[in-house]
Amino acid sequence: MDYKKMIVAALKPALGEYLSDSEIYGKIEIPKESKMGDYAFPTFTLAKVLRKAPQMIANEVIEKIDQSQFEKVEAAGPYINFFLDKTAFGAEVLETILAQKENYGSNDEGNNGNVPIDMSSPNIAKPISMGHLRSTVIGNSLALIMNKNGYNPIKINHLGDWGTQFGKLITAYKLWGSESEVKADPINKLLEYYVRFHKEDVEKPELDDIARDWFKKLEDGDEEATNLWKWFREESLKSFKQIYDKLGITFDSYKGEAFYNDKMDEIVQLLEDKGLLKESQGAQVVDLEKYNLNPALIKKTDGATLYITRDLAAALYRYRTYNFVQSLYVVGAEQTNHFKQLKAVLKEMGFEWSDDIHHIQFGLITLNGKKLSTRSGRVVLLDEVLNDAVDLAQKQINEKNPELEGADEVAKEVGVGAVIFHDLKNERTNSFDFNLEEVVRFEGETGPYVQYSRARAESILRKAGEIAEFDQLEISDSNAWDTLKALQEFPNIVKRAADQYEPSVIAKYALGLAKAFNKYYANSKILTDDNERTARLALVKSVSIVLEEALRLLGVKSPDEM
Ligand code: ARG
Repeated sequence: MDYKKMIVAALKPALGEYLSDSEIYGKIEIPKESKMGDYAFPTFTLAKVLRKAPQMIANEVIEKIDQSQFEKVEAAGPYINFFLDKTAFGAEVLETILAQKENYGSNDEGNNGNVPIDMSSPNIAKPISMGHLRSTVIGNSLALIMNKNGYNPIKINHLGDWGTQFGKLITAYKLWGSESEVKADPINKLLEYYVRFHKEDVEKPELDDIARDWFKKLEDGDEEATNLWKWFREESLKSFKQIYDKLGITFDSYKGEAFYNDKMDEIVQLLEDKGLLKESQGAQVVDLEKYNLNPALIKKTDGATLYITRDLAAALYRYRTYNFVQSLYVVGAEQTNHFKQLKAVLKEMGFEWSDDIHHIQFGLITLNGKKLSTRSGRVVLLDEVLNDAVDLAQKQINEKNPELEGADEVAKEVGVGAVIFHDLKNERTNSFDFNLEEVVRFEGETGPYVQYSRARAESILRKAGEIAEFDQLEISDSNAWDTLKALQEFPNIVKRAADQYEPSVIAKYALGLAKAFNKYYANSKILTDDNERTARLALVKSVSIVLEEALRLLGVKSPDEM
């Protein structure tokens, strides 16, 4: 129910002459403090038209309002404050949630339009970094949020599976590697070879020449090079998939950079036909001065194509394949310039749909204050972080609930959920530090806290036993108000999260709802046998439904007990 519409209807007899419905609607505010009402209409916006003092307008308008559907309506200075009838409001929210269950908050704004989401996209033969974790979990949550808003998301893992690093890797493997070693521990071994290459080529620059030759062979389709490349890619993908499994995240496509090898000629041709390619020191570039950007380097002097050339081909491919309504790229803020250039070049090519491409950027993660990178050797294997989080969760469960059945599975859901939640509760453009102890705590602004709150709701429902029918939904207890209001907000939250491409909107909401519910639980006796018992249990059930759904939208599981 949209209560603003109810207020528009109430104001119409007094204001219909001067303002349209949507104008009235647009002016309605939500006061900061609840003692100022649940909604407020500012009358000073009419002072000019009516040539009266706002206070006077407020007093006159209030006379003409049918107040019967509200708890009360007050003129307070230049405002008319509306107080909703809390019992009716609460009953309606609960009725809606119990009827719609997990579909509560869904809408069909997206009209089933396709939205490819470029996410995760790690580089073959290197471990997934914490940065890739961010892309993975933000992308996955955005896919769920877009879907809840009626879009059809397509999760694409644009693997970094091509580039000169493969020349280096093949060189290193041929010199120091062994098949059995790689098979036993692919990512770590391949990384070891790669790191060793970079150490040794300082003293032996000839290694770089060998690597360049191998990459050339690979580009020319040489059999040995191609087979090694394929094998490295497969082995890497296998270990990436172990991590995706742990996170509970799947992809619709693994078309990586290599997929576009035969699709770049067309791009270069199109750019040429449109007269967009210019020579600059032997290289081919697109001038982007009018966008205030550096020229986009399309082809190097030796004819090699670049990262952006591949992304141009990928963008066009995605447009043709999906006819997208939006195309998202969940990639760190350090690539802002790249995506600006990408959009600008597409625009220059005359592709109006370049406006529907959005770079969903995010900040850095540090681990206990240290920056993470692959080269420096401070490699943080995501796998280890997840395992440690699960161990910590296990420890806390053992303390709190030693008898819990299926504790291993719950520890996984809590530990992994904690890491995901911590990532998503921060606005994505913020950088943040990652301290595992804090992330996995059952109290404070954590995922486990939200999961724990929902498990508490479930435990109340178990204690209550079977409820034949939720026939009485009116709660007079004012302690329930904050929770009911939060429940009613959920559909707006779902929309806002999609509009801003911001999972943190959902995470913060879930924390707020959990907090409100815990306060209610601490102050009111839910299971007492009186005539509001079913209504209170309906509220508990609704909280459980909405918390589970909010967590689901983040990609976090909801154990019934923990
Ligand atoms: N592999 C790249 C990296 O790790 C990210 C790719 C992002 N996606 C894209 N279409 N450029 O930095």
